Amino acid sequence: MSKILHKTGILLVAFGSATPTGQQTLALFDAKVRALFPHIPIRWAFTSERMRDRLTAARKKTDSVKKALCRMIFEKYSHIAVQSLHLIPGMEYEALYADIINAQRESGFAHIEVGMPLMASSLDVTPTARALLAHIPKERQPEDAVICMAHGTKHDAATGYDALAAEVLAVDPRIFIGTLEGSRSINHILPLLQGKDIRRAWLLPLLAVIGKHAETDMAGETPRSWRSQIEAYNIQCIPVLKGTAEYTGFINIWLTHLADAIKKVEEKK
Ligand code: CO
Repeated sequence: MSKILHKTGILLVAFGSATPTGQQTLALFDAKVRALFPHIPIRWAFTSERMRDRLTAARKKTDSVKKALCRMIFEKYSHIAVQSLHLIPGMEYEALYADIINAQRESGFAHIEVGMPLMASSLDVTPTARALLAHIPKERQPEDAVICMAHGTKHDAATGYDALAAEVLAVDPRIFIGTLEGSRSINHILPLLQGKDIRRAWLLPLLAVIGKHAETDMAGETPRSWRSQIEAYNIQCIPVLKGTAEYTGFINIWLTHLADAIKKVEEKK
């Protein structure tokens, strides 16, 4: 292929959001990517079919990963760097990877590279822990607990949560990492809060965008929410409804991974 036909694009991938706040978070991330790579066009894809249906109903443009890549290949993008807002390389990341391999094979000409999730390897654990520690609200007192909710999975990549939990716990024994699904559930966290005279807990979502999991499962009023279950132990909860994609510390890690993917894909020119 001659040099003149090279066309590089970025595809950003998120679960998707149908709320104005969630969309604002994604727009903020989009702006950061645009500022860093002003010469490369950016597209978005959403992995949640439910979110895509809701966005379509609201007359908002929405693509799956498959559809977005297909569209880019049709528009003759020859070099595509994909970056998702995943925390760990779990099932969703594997599905994304499979879509990329398929699109690459079907196109016959496109080079596609995918950037790593926030914590793809042990090398990412320390920067992620640092980002987390930096974003704990200033009002938090040393005796307050900080309880973070990540999504969780039965996938082997869940060991990433354990590594992160160990790293932050070594710095501050009152910071706990739990997950909604998988083995680090709230039932695993609650006993750890006992006997420490904890009166107040800050609840932080380790989720890219604020949605149902943060609003309902973490901070909601139902008896099943983390908030209610923690408050049952006489610990006052202060939920912080901000997604990881809203904090520069986390954003910068994803941007580094995207820069790696762009570099890799451009080496194929
Ligand atoms: Co979920």
